[in-house]
Amino acid sequence: MKDRVYIFDTTLRDGEQSPGASMNAAEKMRLAVQLEKLGVDILEAGFPAASQGDLDAVSQIAQKLEKTEVTALARTSKEDIDCAWKAIGHAAKPRIHTFIATSDIHMDYKLKMTRDEVVKTAVESVKYARSFTDNVEFSAEDGSRSDRDFLCKVFEAAIEAGATTVNLPDTVGYAIPEEFSELVKYVLSHTPNIHKAILSIHCHNDLGLATANTLAAINSGARQAEVTINGIGERAGNTSLEEVIMALHTRPNFLPLSTEIKTNLIYPTSRLVSMITGILVQPNKAIVGANAFAHEAGIHQDGVLKNPMTYEIMKPETIGLNTNTLVLGKHSGRHALRSRLKELGYDLSDEELKLVFKKFKELADKKKHVVDEDLEVIVTEGILRTKDIFRLEYLHVTSGTTVLPMASVKLEINGRSAQGADYGNGPIDSAFNAIAKLTGTKSELLRFSVSALTGGTDAQGEVTVRLRENGLLALGKGADPDIITASAKAYVNGLNRLEYLKANPVIKIS
Ligand code: KIV
Ligand code: ZN
Repeated sequence: MKDRVYIFDTTLRDGEQSPGASMNAAEKMRLAVQLEKLGVDILEAGFPAASQGDLDAVSQIAQKLEKTEVTALARTSKEDIDCAWKAIGHAAKPRIHTFIATSDIHMDYKLKMTRDEVVKTAVESVKYARSFTDNVEFSAEDGSRSDRDFLCKVFEAAIEAGATTVNLPDTVGYAIPEEFSELVKYVLSHTPNIHKAILSIHCHNDLGLATANTLAAINSGARQAEVTINGIGERAGNTSLEEVIMALHTRPNFLPLSTEIKTNLIYPTSRLVSMITGILVQPNKAIVGANAFAHEAGIHQDGVLKNPMTYEIMKPETIGLNTNTLVLGKHSGRHALRSRLKELGYDLSDEELKLVFKKFKELADKKKHVVDEDLEVIVTEGILRTKDIFRLEYLHVTSGTTVLPMASVKLEINGRSAQGADYGNGPIDSAFNAIAKLTGTKSELLRFSVSALTGGTDAQGEVTVRLRENGLLALGKGADPDIITASAKAYVNGLNRLEYLKANPVIKIS
């Protein structure tokens, strides 16, 4: 039988620390449900001490999930651990995750604590966490830059105090695979009681080596991998779940290890994360990028037609990327829509399906073929964003070479309709000005980009905006066959995210 690696997903915690990736409670819940379906073993739902909003979101997720362990992050203080337990205590399978830094640079400059004080604090916090649950994870922050023997000493003490998982993070993405693999072997052979716990690793991607480091560590005996979908996370991000899973899947001789991940849900989950966070997946991203299975060179296309394995080491279907996309049109019924949505990973209630069906019909009237990407937009905008403060109801623009560009806009603001108009340099500028005036917001537009969701002239345009207001940053995303409408939707989405951030100030940790 294959040895097992536990998959610990931190998309909702470390992933949410990506600049602009904040999600509201409904979005977090939707993603948590999807991650449970995907088969992650442990889901880090958030950092409850960071804000009341985070605590509430984690608490709702803890209540909902049945199979997946739900964990919450806590610093080594009693207050943080109390908060974490308040949020996850009622979960079917709760785990407390507490951490403290163990590298000299962090202890000297950040914590201003001696090594002995750090060991004592780690022990006290693990013991305190154990007073709530027997499932406690301890992380040695900046572990990869810590003194090896001290690291083993901290792990030994944490396990002695009751930690059932000890995590070795490469917090700043500094490690090199051979070195990290050696470190894992060292920890396994120099921590006397390590057999009483699972050794976990948590890598960041600052040198583009997060996946390589994670695989090297697994190969050397680590048995829990901390990952995020699409590799989102602090700075350059975290190890990406899909890369680790597909490496295990594609190279079983080299890595004979099993997980519970359902690979055919990888692509739908990746799309969901991208739609919810507004963070686009780079086209050449391994596994889930738009070009990951696209063959451009003639020689490659010829080879793939003769035998896909000439240039394809994985089948797109394995990750749930259906290349024979079923195209839906205006004559397609509710049943066909429901079954396609199910294949994409969206199990909607009757009420939700009704809403999506209505929007699908509206789109099918404008666009001949409705493809998977269009459906994802409808689901994300129609279902996930229903609790937004601002909602675009109507947009009309006039523009051209001889007229002053003008936009009139109707918005729903906290359930009430409001109407207004403004002008600008072009149709998009006027729409943004009218929306800003109506909402009374003063955000600065830092970035604006448009891309086509699929090929063809009737493709939906996908717009991403990056907004800043009073030091808060948010991304907004919108899609529509009309790029001016897509831009207005993206702008409204960005404003909703800013409102969410204003209401939920968050303490960021590494
Ligand atoms: O990168 C890191 O060290 C972390 C810990 C809190 C596990 O995210
Ligand atoms: Zn991290």
